[in-house]
Amino acid sequence: MLNFDDAPVAPAATTNAAGTATGTTMDFTPGTAAAAAAGITSVSVVPGQAAGATGLEEIEFNSRRITVDEKRIINCRADVNQLVPFKYEWAWQKYLDACANHWMPQEISMSRDIALWKDPNGLTDDERMIIKRNLGFFSTADSLVANNLVLAIYRHITNPECRQYLLRQSFEEALHTHAYQYIVESLGLDEGEIFNMYREIPSIHKKDVFQLQFTDELANPDFHTGTPETDQRFLRNLIGYYIIMEGIFFYVGFVQMLSFGRQNKMTGASEQFQYIMRDESMHLNYGVDLINAIKIENPHLWTEEFQNEICALIREGVELEFNYAQDTMPRGVLGLNSQMFSEYLRFIANRRCRQIGLPEQYPGAKNPFPWMSEMIDLKKEKNFFETRVIDYQTGGALSWD
Ligand SMILES: [Fe+2]
Ligand SMILES: [Fe+2]
Repeated sequence: MLNFDDAPVAPAATTNAAGTATGTTMDFTPGTAAAAAAGITSVSVVPGQAAGATGLEEIEFNSRRITVDEKRIINCRADVNQLVPFKYEWAWQKYLDACANHWMPQEISMSRDIALWKDPNGLTDDERMIIKRNLGFFSTADSLVANNLVLAIYRHITNPECRQYLLRQSFEEALHTHAYQYIVESLGLDEGEIFNMYREIPSIHKKDVFQLQFTDELANPDFHTGTPETDQRFLRNLIGYYIIMEGIFFYVGFVQMLSFGRQNKMTGASEQFQYIMRDESMHLNYGVDLINAIKIENPHLWTEEFQNEICALIREGVELEFNYAQDTMPRGVLGLNSQMFSEYLRFIANRRCRQIGLPEQYPGAKNPFPWMSEMIDLKKEKNFFETRVIDYQTGGALSWD
C-alpha cells in the first residue's frame, strides 16, 4: 500500500525547471498556481473574492466559472465549494482509497480478549500496563487530532478536494476513538482511569501538551493565513500533527499492541490497532503530499531557519516518544525492550524527514521491527486473525422496507 517503514522513501516533492512537481502523485503543470508560486507566471485571482476563502462568502450570482489553474491549497481566492474540476488528484484518490478501506470497531470480536483479560493468569502485570497505558494515550489522542482537523486546519485549507479528504479523515478519527472506547468497555476497564491518563500520566501528558501548542494558535478566530509568518505557523501545525503525532507518537503503541497479536494474545484489540494503523499510514501519506504541495506553491516559506525549527521539533518528538516507550515498558516484555524503540524511533524519524525534504536526523538508524511493514499493508481481504468477516458490506445494515 502506501507507507512501508522499511521500503525506500520517495523523495520529497520538488519542482523541476519547468515548474512540474516530481516525487509525488501531484500534478503541477506550467501555468498552474503552483508554477506561478514558484515564479513561473503570475497567480490568477477571481475578482471580488477575498483571500483565505472559507466557502462561507456570499454566492455571487452569475460570476464567471472557476478554472483549475485558480485552485491553491492555502490562500486561494477561487470558490472552495466546487469539488471539480480536480487539481490535486492525489487528494481525491486518497479519499476514494480511504472509503474503500472502511471498517467498524464492533465488527471485530473481543471475546477471546475478554476471556484472557479476566483470567488471573492470562497476562502479566507488565502486559496489562502496556495495554492500559496505550488505551490511555490513544483514547484521547484521536480526539486531539480530530479537534485539530475540524477546529484548526479545515478552515485554512482552501481547496475542496483536500477538504474532502479531511472530512473522511475526521470520520476515521471518530472511528478510532470509538474503537478505544469499545475495547475499554469490552474488557470492563475503569473508563475514568483510561480517559484521564492524558492528565495523570506524565509521559502521555507531555506528548499531548506538545501537540496542543500547534492547535491553539490556529484555532484562534483571529488567526489568518496569508503572510509568510502565519503560513509558516500553519505548515508547522501540519507537520506537528501529520508527521510527529500521526507519524511518530503513534508508533510505539502500534508496535506494542501489534506485538500482542503476533503472540496470539489480545487478538481483537490487536486487530483493531492494525486497522487503525492502516488508516493512520494513509493520514500520514496525505499529510506528506499536502505539506509538499504547499511547499511547492509557497517556496518562500521553506527557509533554512524554518527547516531547522522543524528538525528540532521532530527531534523533541522522538525524545518524548522514547520517554513514553520507557514509561509503558520499564522492563523487557513481548520480545521488546525500550532500547529497540530508541532505534526504531530514530529510523522512522529519518523516514519522515526524507518524506518532506529534510535531512535525516539520525544517520544509520536501522529498523528493528521489519514485520511492521507487513502489518501496515493489511488488505481488507486478508483476514489476519480470522476474527472478522472478509468484506465490508457497505449499507448492509440498512433496511429499505
Ligand atoms: Fe486516528
Ligand atoms: Fe489519524
